[in-house]
Amino acid sequence: MLDVNNLKREFRSSSTTVTAVDDVSLSLGDGVFAAIVGKSGSGKSTLLSLLGTLDKPTSGTIRIDDEDVSKMSDRKLTAYRRDKIGFVFQSYNLIPNLSALQNVMLPMEFDGIARLERRKRAEQLLEQVGLTGEQQKRKPGRLSGGEQQRVAIARALANKPKLILADEPTGNLDTETGKVIFDLLHDLARSENTTILAVTHDTEIAGQTDRTFHLKDGKLL
Ligand SMILES: Nc1ncnc2c1ncn2[C@@H]1O[C@H](COP(=O)(O)OP(=O)(O)O)[C@@H](O)[C@H]1O
Ligand SMILES: [Mg+2]
Repeated sequence: MLDVNNLKREFRSSSTTVTAVDDVSLSLGDGVFAAIVGKSGSGKSTLLSLLGTLDKPTSGTIRIDDEDVSKMSDRKLTAYRRDKIGFVFQSYNLIPNLSALQNVMLPMEFDGIARLERRKRAEQLLEQVGLTGEQQKRKPGRLSGGEQQRVAIARALANKPKLILADEPTGNLDTETGKVIFDLLHDLARSENTTILAVTHDTEIAGQTDRTFHLKDGKLL
């Protein structure tokens, strides 16, 4: 479902050029849970941004379901991202004055789904990630870090994406909670047949995925 060929991203300034992603090629099938590991500065976030079409490569191609996203117009990409790609971040990025339920309902608003149906699907997703009816009514500030990340994962699933990209999703969580969140992502990749690519520092966690990619100085080892 994901096919990356000779991907390169350079950052140029007047004096230097940093090659953040250097000739990366990889492919992933449907429903695969994969990890990217590597030191700080090795290019993990840059690679994820490119795959999520938030940034454009200097050269190389990214095909998602046989569509070359590196050639799409910005306008097409906005809709494409919304429908096909889910994002999960280290800092959860939830909207603080909306309840957990409202946060998960929000991405569905752009797809013209009726309010009642949005609500039903959001409730189901939150249950699926392990949040009770009472927790679903709370605003993010009244949930623990692990619970907030569960909400963010439910939100990422809202539009049934083909691909979920998670940049250090357990970076703000204790080791035990981090493991639980990674297990949850693994289960979801299987049950939803969604391809999930998650960045982590924790090599122990990375060992539990279907695939692990090691990045060093922008290159895959
Ligand atoms: N917008 C940018 N402008 C210039 N350099 C950047 C930019 N983003 C990332 N870099 C550089 O690219 C390299 C990889 O960064 P990054 O992808 O954030 O690594 P990681 O996520 O593995 O810590 C680093 O040397 C970083 O300084
Ligand atoms: Mg990073």
